[in-house]
Amino acid sequence: MPACLVGSTCSPRERAAAGLPCRRRLAFREKVNKSRPRCERQLPVDISKIISDAAYQAYERNLVQHVKSRPVPEHVAIIMDGNRRFAESIGLGPPAGHEKGRDKLEEVLEWCLEAGVRILTVYAFSTENFSRDTDEVRHIMRLFTENFRRAGDDKRVHKNQIRISVLGRRDMLPKEVAESIEYCEAKTKDYDKYRLNLAIAYGGREEILEAIRGLMRDARDGKIAPENIDEKFFSRRLWTGDMPDPDLILRTSGEERISNFLLWQLAYSELYFVDVYWPGFRKVDFLRAIRSYQMRQRRRGK
Ligand code: FPP
Repeated sequence: MPACLVGSTCSPRERAAAGLPCRRRLAFREKVNKSRPRCERQLPVDISKIISDAAYQAYERNLVQHVKSRPVPEHVAIIMDGNRRFAESIGLGPPAGHEKGRDKLEEVLEWCLEAGVRILTVYAFSTENFSRDTDEVRHIMRLFTENFRRAGDDKRVHKNQIRISVLGRRDMLPKEVAESIEYCEAKTKDYDKYRLNLAIAYGGREEILEAIRGLMRDARDGKIAPENIDEKFFSRRLWTGDMPDPDLILRTSGEERISNFLLWQLAYSELYFVDVYWPGFRKVDFLRAIRSYQMRQRRRGK
């Protein structure tokens, strides 16, 4: 598997999968090397890695500067795909993939704060995902329960004034997940500097249908007339009603489809597909996506 799919903070297993020597072997080689007379010593074995790491960091710094010198998208939406394939590629099961996916989301949120992206919306669990293996669904639900509670108490969330919200059919979620979401939303509801939205038990068609049902109820009760319903009005009835449409939608894992995500909202979004699995998504991948967005001309049909 290509090293680029693994990412930079590797466990021994991931280092092996990426073709990197394990740290113990490196330490042993260094010991042997040091026992040789100075004139016969070899250069440290991973000198090339040190050089490539330094070059990589310089490239990353350069990209950050480039991206920050131009207008960044206000709203970025991400289809986080490839947790299970990532896990499988390093000999682990789906739970490990989802845990690494959770960790990656934290990292990406930090990159958004650094770049000045104000709204991040991620597709974390679709209505269709409920038909996965029961143990897998249970594990993901446990991750949601733990992490919404943790996020509600997280100092970084409060320091950066991040409002966290969930988009989706809450009635489909187990009680403890719904409670943990409510806890987190209540603790962050007054912030609007940054926003993190998680689409959970989400389906784009379902979101549109839900809006139509609400409109029909209001029309039946005489609260609205059909001629009052224009695009702006309809947008406000969606789960994303109080935020702008996404400027950029990106999907990881090499799949190039939208999978029922933000169907109404994506009308003029720029799309970007990257072939790394979500847990292996690197800061440079994120910055390249923003740079690509900045290089495009958005005409919105004009
Ligand atoms: C996508 O990869 C992942 C999901 C559909 C499920 C859960 C998402 C996370 C655990 C990240 C966010 C977590 C928290 C707690 C906020 P996949 O399972 O579809 O992988 P595959 O495409 O390789 O099958």
